[in-house]
Amino acid sequence: MVNNIVEVSNVVKTFGDVRAVDGLSFVVKPGEIFGLLGPNGAGKTTTVKLILGLLELDAGDITVFDLLPSTDEMAIKQRIGYVSEEPLIYKSMTPKELFDFTSSIRRLNPEDTTAKLQRYLESLEAEQYYDKLIATLSRGNKQKMQVIAALLHEPKLLIMDEPLTGLDAKSAKVVKEILELHAENGGSVIFSTHILEVAEDVCDRICIINEGKAVATGTMDELSKLADKAGADLEEIFLKLTQQDESVNRIISNLRKLTNNGGNR
Ligand SMILES: Nc1ncnc2c1ncn2[C@@H]1O[C@H](COP(=O)(O)OP(=O)(O)OP(=O)(O)O)[C@@H](O)[C@H]1O
Ligand SMILES: [Mg+2]
Repeated sequence: MVNNIVEVSNVVKTFGDVRAVDGLSFVVKPGEIFGLLGPNGAGKTTTVKLILGLLELDAGDITVFDLLPSTDEMAIKQRIGYVSEEPLIYKSMTPKELFDFTSSIRRLNPEDTTAKLQRYLESLEAEQYYDKLIATLSRGNKQKMQVIAALLHEPKLLIMDEPLTGLDAKSAKVVKEILELHAENGGSVIFSTHILEVAEDVCDRICIINEGKAVATGTMDELSKLADKAGADLEEIFLKLTQQDESVNRIISNLRKLTNNGGNR
């Protein structure tokens, strides 16, 4: 039997009074794109940072490739490609310098890396930004470079926190293709998003998170059946499970009142 790539069991992480992650459990298997889907503030980024060993957990257990993020951070990082939710921070570098730097710390073969880079830059139509300062790139082009940098060492596990943010439709499609290929070749992906349609489109299995807790986990089919049984569609279920339906309806009705009043002025 093949081991799970990531195991998250009863994990808790608090920041002062806020329980950002509150007893969360899930596993990520080899060859799957696993979605963390939840509204803003649900605890997706905190979960990702705990898996990467960037934050320490308060309770519970996490293993990545059967290793502990708290003690084996470096060994784990060598096998992970990470796209953070913030755009690239190395603003005073060019993408070329960033890729050279990434390749040298990861000790990659220069010829292989150059060929891969060329392919990725071409497929994302980003060759012309290769030598420009990262600070001068648009948000979407920065994001493309961040995605490419995460792929160069062919990691077994990709962790992508809202990776399609800022990408145009064509580039988003290319990144989705890259992730699908990665999974077809036996790699795994943790993909965080707050958008149901994106999770539906990209992920094999999804954990819906709200207030740090898993409210439902399964394939899209399984979640749709759950929705069917409840006599609703998946969007309604998502909003209900994440307790947004009442507040969303209230906000929409308040907005309507505001715009109506505005119109009468
Ligand atoms: N460093 C921090 N200090 C204090 N509170 C934090 C910190 N990081 C996260 N939080 C809180 O933890 C909760 C979960 O935040 P997190 O960033 O994990 O959510 P998210 O699901 O990634 O949201 P988004 O969709 O907006 O990216 C929020 O209430 C947030 O305010
Ligand atoms: Mg986040």
